[in-house]
Amino acid sequence: MRVAMLTGGGDCPGLNAVMRAVVRKGERQYGDEVVGFRDGWRGVLEGDLMPLTVETMRGTLPRGGTILGSSRTNPYKVDGGPDQVRASLAEHGIDALVAIGGEDTLGVAHKLSQEGVPVLGVPKTIDNDLSGTELTFGFDTAVQICVDAIDRLHTTAESHNRVMVVEVMGRHAGHIAAWSGIAGGATITLIPEEPFDIEAVCDAIRHRHEEGRRLASIVVVSEGATPKEGTMQLQSGDVDAFGHVRLGGIGTVLSSEIEERTGFETRVTTLGHVQRGGTPTAYDRVLATRFGVAAIDAVHDGAWGTMVALQGGRIVRVSLEEAVGSLKLVEPELYDVARVFFE
Ligand code: F6P
Repeated sequence: MRVAMLTGGGDCPGLNAVMRAVVRKGERQYGDEVVGFRDGWRGVLEGDLMPLTVETMRGTLPRGGTILGSSRTNPYKVDGGPDQVRASLAEHGIDALVAIGGEDTLGVAHKLSQEGVPVLGVPKTIDNDLSGTELTFGFDTAVQICVDAIDRLHTTAESHNRVMVVEVMGRHAGHIAAWSGIAGGATITLIPEEPFDIEAVCDAIRHRHEEGRRLASIVVVSEGATPKEGTMQLQSGDVDAFGHVRLGGIGTVLSSEIEERTGFETRVTTLGHVQRGGTPTAYDRVLATRFGVAAIDAVHDGAWGTMVALQGGRIVRVSLEEAVGSLKLVEPELYDVARVFFE
């Protein structure tokens, strides 16, 4: 078979590991020819592709990012986009397309599969917000990067008796924040799933500081966290091709509010794209490899419209419809675990 892959949306550690696995099993066990479209759906629309072989994939297992490049191009926002996708696949003799992406990229894959395109998905995102899978690859790496940063912030916070606000990514789901807050021993963690009361946040910090037990606090805030209505002013950001608002900035606003309301010196660290860069953890390399192997098997089973997923420790197939139907949010039980350690 002639199999194509693409990587769409925000990049993520482990993308190359998935492709390496698809190519290895495809070429060596199925006798496939594998190609990659550059920059997500843009490459498909424009017929911009490159060969992917066992040789070209050498050395990519530990490499962050994606050797194919990525973009947030949405074919459904381009005039005649879906027809152009079909024409491009036909022109390049593609029998199967493996889309590696998050809710946007796989949302497009889902629509195309409903229209008869032989496409299936692999769940990628540091945000871990795709339904149907317990974990997406890239998430473990992002959390580890956040926890390493929080560990470092603890010592400088203690030396200066400061409150440290740490803003992490995750869009409208608080998985990165919840896991980093628990693993990093945060004083309080704010996630989009639970709008926060700024006064309650300040009370927690005052309580911790006023008793003289501790003079430093770490506040982990998810970029999508929101204050309870009418309690704090936030700015709104630009919108991308999928209609998502560009988030970021809550940490800075929160930090000034905390300093103003409590009088405690407060600093903010916005971890930003550091969370997406660099080498994947061993866990993500293994998960990405398992997904890649399962994806090429799914191609040969003709399992169009499905996504490989992790459930109960096993790799399974779920429908793309289920995967992109609704965002997977932080379970209240997990946030309750984090809450046990709030002051
Ligand atoms: O979806 C992954 C993610 O890193 C989000 O956590 C974040 O909001 C967004 O992408 C940032 O996007 P960009 O790289 O376009 O700034």
